[in-house]
Amino acid sequence: MKKDSRNKISRRHFLASAGAAMVLPMILPGCAVGRGGRPRPSNRINLGVVGWGMQGPGNTQSFLAETDCQVVAACDLDKGHLQSALDTINDHYQNKDCTPYHDYREMMARTDLDAVMLAVPDHWHALVSTEAARRKLDIYGEKPLAKTIAEQQAIVRAVQKNKIIWQTGSWQRSQSPFHKAAEIVRNGLIGEVTRVEVGLPSGHHDFAGTAPELLQKLASLPDKITDLSKVTPGSAAWNLAVSEPPAEFDYLTWIGASKLEPYIKQRVHMNWRWNYNTGGGQLLDWIGHHCDIAHWGMDCDRSGPSEIEGHGEFPAADALWNTCTKYRIELKYPRNITMVIAGGHGDIRSGTKWIGTEGWVWVDRGGFDASNPEWKKGKSLPEELRKVKLYESRGHWRNFLDCVKSRQPTITPVETAHHSAMPGHLGLISMLVGRKINWNVEHETILHDAEATKLLTRAYRPPWRLS
Ligand SMILES: NC(=O)c1ccc[n+]([C@@H]2O[C@H](COP(=O)([O-])OP(=O)(O)OC[C@H]3O[C@@H](n4cnc5c(N)ncnc54)[C@H](O)[C@@H]3O)[C@@H](O)[C@H]2O)c1
Repeated sequence: MKKDSRNKISRRHFLASAGAAMVLPMILPGCAVGRGGRPRPSNRINLGVVGWGMQGPGNTQSFLAETDCQVVAACDLDKGHLQSALDTINDHYQNKDCTPYHDYREMMARTDLDAVMLAVPDHWHALVSTEAARRKLDIYGEKPLAKTIAEQQAIVRAVQKNKIIWQTGSWQRSQSPFHKAAEIVRNGLIGEVTRVEVGLPSGHHDFAGTAPELLQKLASLPDKITDLSKVTPGSAAWNLAVSEPPAEFDYLTWIGASKLEPYIKQRVHMNWRWNYNTGGGQLLDWIGHHCDIAHWGMDCDRSGPSEIEGHGEFPAADALWNTCTKYRIELKYPRNITMVIAGGHGDIRSGTKWIGTEGWVWVDRGGFDASNPEWKKGKSLPEELRKVKLYESRGHWRNFLDCVKSRQPTITPVETAHHSAMPGHLGLISMLVGRKINWNVEHETILHDAEATKLLTRAYRPPWRLS
């Protein structure tokens, strides 16, 4: 029962019917399950993983832990990362069956794959996701949905057209404190919501730990540069930063559809976030987490702001690390709700806070607080207060696999991811043009502002093309 693009009686349909059968009260014959209680290979979800950097390994470990999933292929442009993927996956299964790929298109052309996990940098999300959707592979894809709003729209269209299952890496929805906070708001316990505060990180964070070695080199220069956002093209510091890419890393493909810039180690793995050519800074890195939760409580998974005004502090546009270091965005939502998204402003606490006419609730990773001490007790609200019950998942990665089988929407489907990231994209556009912008929520257009409208999309470097 291998999937075949010519024959749509696919592995997935087989899995769906097997999943449905599991809820029936019957005793399965011994031959219906594999050794050690694992589902038979033909009834496991065959998964390919793309991107083995910071997030890919964690996502993959969560899938390896699920017995009805088999990771059969791994893809990365860095040979060292790819080897590490193979070692981890083969070590887990105690075999050598995982197939390595350099080109995700080759991996996705396999006819035995059911689904893919994508953890590539933001400038790759649209190309890799739309290819997977075209191949009718279900997708566990990372936040933010894409680098631009136009790319996000392309992903939404591809997922809908090909009727695939999508789960976003916005895993906070699968955690009880975030679920409880959103249910408090949706059940009206804080009254009418008037204001929502979304606190995100500021500055740049050297995730890869590659900055010190360059800063040490730069210390020999008269300028005494201590911050990579002060390094600009043409300077002696820039010339010291540029090098040949290492032999094991295919930088030319890695830069993809983005502008071809010289290789700088501090701009690639993990730290691509701090260069607008490839990432979106702290704002876009985090918007898919805390704004995603904010929208859940506001019931705005298919909605968004109509007015957006942002102010921020930016290094030079061509600096080595050039993304916004401090920002504050005010957004007007339906029902006269004001949202503030901020990074680096002491009055806006990290996480999500909803303020209503009768109380407030705040939630973050490792933190929960509310105006009513009763709401702080227990993992979830008392049953009698739960008139509105939000989607509950058994675990974010588990939820994806369950939905691959049931063909029901996941807890963070593609449309939700699209709307959760949109306020970040629009806030950045407002900051870049230096004025308030007006957004038509239904048609997804910026009103009366040609310069801002241009920033909804980006130029693609040939031969890459978004279909
Ligand atoms: N959900 C979360 O909590 C969370 C946390 C961290 C990162 N992320 C997201 O995960 C994604 C990846 O981030 P990261 O920090 O892991 O990045 P990373 O740079 O650490 O890893 C990305 C990997 O993808 C590889 N890669 C890049 N382009 C590729 C391509 N075209 N084909 C195959 N491999 C390719 C790179 O070589 C690298 O190994 C981002 O979208 C990020 O926002 C999510």
